[in-house]
Amino acid sequence: MSATEYISSYEIIQITPDELPLCVSFWGETSDKRLTERKTFVYKTGGEYVGGFAIFERYEKCGHFSHFFVRDDLRGQGIGSRLLEFAVLYLRDMGMEIMRLHVEKTNTKAIKLYERHGFVHSGDATPDKMIMVKELKA
Ligand SMILES: CC(C)(COP(=O)(O)OP(=O)(O)OC[C@H]1O[C@@H](n2cnc3c(N)ncnc32)[C@H](O)[C@@H]1OP(=O)(O)O)[C@@H](O)C(=O)NCCC(=O)NCCS
Repeated sequence: MSATEYISSYEIIQITPDELPLCVSFWGETSDKRLTERKTFVYKTGGEYVGGFAIFERYEKCGHFSHFFVRDDLRGQGIGSRLLEFAVLYLRDMGMEIMRLHVEKTNTKAIKLYERHGFVHSGDATPDKMIMVKELKA
């Protein structure tokens, strides 16, 4: 399979905690308890899981997005954008009105990506991390 085919034929699926060991190539430490407590979704291509994210309802109608990773050799090809767009649609379908995430203030690449997808800064989560939010109401 060519590199282009490898990334163009894909599906985004929800996985169960017993599949977390298949995600070490992008999540590394998959024993993170939060991954087993949240809904986890992965990007499946070429029979492999190569990226993913987790979500949970942080408070009423606010969906929190976390654990957003793409395998490092496949970054910069649109996989992250597809995962993020999927998460937005999924949370909207769940009836969430706000989507929220925390990002390291130094992670300019991720911040740019979130801004391109309509997220705005909304204060600090910790001294090192900012909160970003996106309105999901139509
Ligand atoms: C953040 C992260 C998930 C983004 O995933 P990604 O697959 O690289 O995301 P995309 O490819 O959609 O977008 C990244 C860049 O590639 C560019 N891009 C998108 N589609 C592209 C394509 N088809 N061809 C070439 N470049 C493309 C985007 O414009 C973007 O450009 P930028 O560098 O100017 O921002 C990934 O970089 C990652 O795993 N980082 C480490 C973990 C992390 O920081 N997570 C966020 C925690 S809050």
